Amino acid sequence: MLAKLFGSTLVGMESHRVQVEVDVTNGIPGFEMVGLPDAALRESRIRVKSAIKNSGFQFPRTKVHINLAPADIRKEGPSFDLPIALGILQAMGQLKPARGAGFIAAGELSLDGQLREVTGALSIALGARACGGDFIVLPSQNAKEAALVQGLDVFGMSSLRQAVAFLEGAHAEPVRVDPEDMLREDPAVVADLCEVRGQEPARRALEVAAAGGHNLLMVGPPGSGKTMLARRLPGILPPLTVDEALEVTRIHSIAGLVPAGASLVGDRPFRTPHNSISAVGLTGGGVPLPRPGEVSLAHCGVLYLDELTLYPRNALESLRVPLEDMRVTIVRSMVTVTYPARFSLIASMNPCPCGYLGDPQHECACSMNDILRYRARISGPLMDRIDIQIEVPRLTRAQLMERGGGEPSERVRERVMAARRVQARRFGQTGIFSNAAMTNAMLDAYCGTDAQGERFLGFAVERLGLSARSYHRVLKVARTIADLAGADRITEEHIAEAVQYRCLERGAPPAVAYGVRGMP
Ligand SMILES: Nc1ncnc2c1ncn2[C@@H]1O[C@H](COP(=O)(O)OP(=O)(O)O)[C@@H](O)[C@H]1O
Ligand SMILES: [Mg+2]
Repeated sequence: MLAKLFGSTLVGMESHRVQVEVDVTNGIPGFEMVGLPDAALRESRIRVKSAIKNSGFQFPRTKVHINLAPADIRKEGPSFDLPIALGILQAMGQLKPARGAGFIAAGELSLDGQLREVTGALSIALGARACGGDFIVLPSQNAKEAALVQGLDVFGMSSLRQAVAFLEGAHAEPVRVDPEDMLREDPAVVADLCEVRGQEPARRALEVAAAGGHNLLMVGPPGSGKTMLARRLPGILPPLTVDEALEVTRIHSIAGLVPAGASLVGDRPFRTPHNSISAVGLTGGGVPLPRPGEVSLAHCGVLYLDELTLYPRNALESLRVPLEDMRVTIVRSMVTVTYPARFSLIASMNPCPCGYLGDPQHECACSMNDILRYRARISGPLMDRIDIQIEVPRLTRAQLMERGGGEPSERVRERVMAARRVQARRFGQTGIFSNAAMTNAMLDAYCGTDAQGERFLGFAVERLGLSARSYHRVLKVARTIADLAGADRITEEHIAEAVQYRCLERGAPPAVAYGVRGMP
């Protein structure tokens, strides 16, 4: 009267195999589950009972004990419905297994016995392969995603009845997919740079940011095209590699964000969290088990923060660690979870509270104090981590009405990819992917310049009062500019352009240039 099967639970990106022991014994009818189940799992009693009855089986009129081992891992989610239901049927002799017990089953049951999709199918499959499982049984909606894992048989089932029939020996074909084909299958429809008129300096900055993996801040009045430009960054980044796509899919699957019908996330993510987001929402966390935050959902892609000054200060500060470490580690008393978070940060803000500072057609109504207070909402350390800061002025009516847009994304992307290839050769297997992520030792090794360049750098540091960190950022951006130009050595010209990209640091606040009311 005892049945043993395997289920799976997620701890961060990893899945752990969990032994589900079901004992149907004599005694007063009841259903007890031990082994740290969470609330959703404890509710499975109701779903399992109805699903069993409505699938034409019998639910025991005696005592049911369920033990989930190992007991020290918290088990979460409704994916245990399927192994629990199968275990009950097996313990009562209504399921006579013909395929052994070395498989993992996962799936949520609806009351009528149909299987509903679960989150984290890719992680479940990776975990199953790692512990040498024979095969896995999943809801058919998840089967393709799980089948991305090579070397493991995945069977998709639509109902409890079908799963029982399969385990009793009915024939079924394992699902097979080819990740390479899936990546190529549907080319994304992305916004194209050719729709952007003018804005040459901003387009160039976007290209440099894409080429070197640099973070970018755009400062400009409303309607100047900042959002429009940011949306076009994914389109000039190199396409995802299969490994990247798998990693992105894994994170999105855990968060339940893989779109229905899709099984591989093949496009670079573009995340635009609203400015009401909390620090936990941005970097990850939550109870009982920490979830990936926006920085991890933007892994391999772009995190766009529109109107940067409106985000809560602690949320912005929480970005500092992932920006530096390219991952987030959340430590709890019982678990430590790490999510990858290698993303490009694009932010935009108005130049001043009213938004019209520097606009030739509107007068700015802000005082110098207003402007300084407004800018101080972004802390220095965060600003330091944004390699490229540019001003995006509003186009004049004539510029906006000009015929013909700019260069298409396709062509820009070719240059970006060429620069990325240079970086791939440079960094090899060091685990560094772009100039933006260079360590200080690499700065010394790869960012050498000639005497003229040295002189210019010294001048820039002195005049702009660059912090040590910003000085390094300038060097990294200069390296990227040189890579785009196909140059081995950084020259004065490259440094001069990189210095241009510290617009919020160039000496006095830009307000001086425009003559703001309230200035002495
Ligand atoms: N350079 C440009 N080329 C073409 N259209 C533009 C340009 N700048 C702004 N626009 C138009 O103005 C609209 C508002 O731009 P948006 O990117 O939302 O501005 P912002 O985010 O700076 O407030 C866009 O949807 C677009 O139609
Ligand atoms: Mg906008």
